[in-house]
Amino acid sequence: MNGTLICDQLGDLYDKGADLEKLLVSAVDLIHEANPRFHWTGIYELFPDNVLRLGPFIGAPTDHVFITVGNGVCGSAIAEKRNKNIPDVSKEPNYLACSAFTKSELVILIRKGGTIFAQIDIDSHDIDAFDVETSEEVQKIADWLADAYQQNLQSNGMKSGRGK
Ligand code: SME
Repeated sequence: MNGTLICDQLGDLYDKGADLEKLLVSAVDLIHEANPRFHWTGIYELFPDNVLRLGPFIGAPTDHVFITVGNGVCGSAIAEKRNKNIPDVSKEPNYLACSAFTKSELVILIRKGGTIFAQIDIDSHDIDAFDVETSEEVQKIADWLADAYQQNLQSNGMKSGRGK
């Protein structure tokens, strides 16, 4: 996948007036379509109550609409303030199963320094589906979205409830 190209496409949408919600939906669409090994792609947003809430996603519906910080791969990424690349979810003790088909998972934080706004979560039916290059390309999109979150907070204050 080409993260720079996706950022350019998001930039075009932004220039045409897309709001944050539209940008998040489009980012999920573009990421999901960019790699046939991505079987579930979504964004979890971090709210001030330390709960991740599922935003836009593509793939099978999940029971994990709310995830508390520390729980699962998604919640531990927030607790540890770092990205997660789990090559084999069956070997990960702190894993919340969304689908029996999922074999590997990638979580990339959408952050500005110590402030985490959200995360991009991708599941694959393949073992070890996420190489370093893929993580780096997804990171470019996460960094672009972090700028969008920051601008949204600057223009809306904390009304949206996001950002810690
Ligand atoms: N597997 C995640 C839960 C989210 S689903 O993958 C969509 C976790 O362990 O946090």
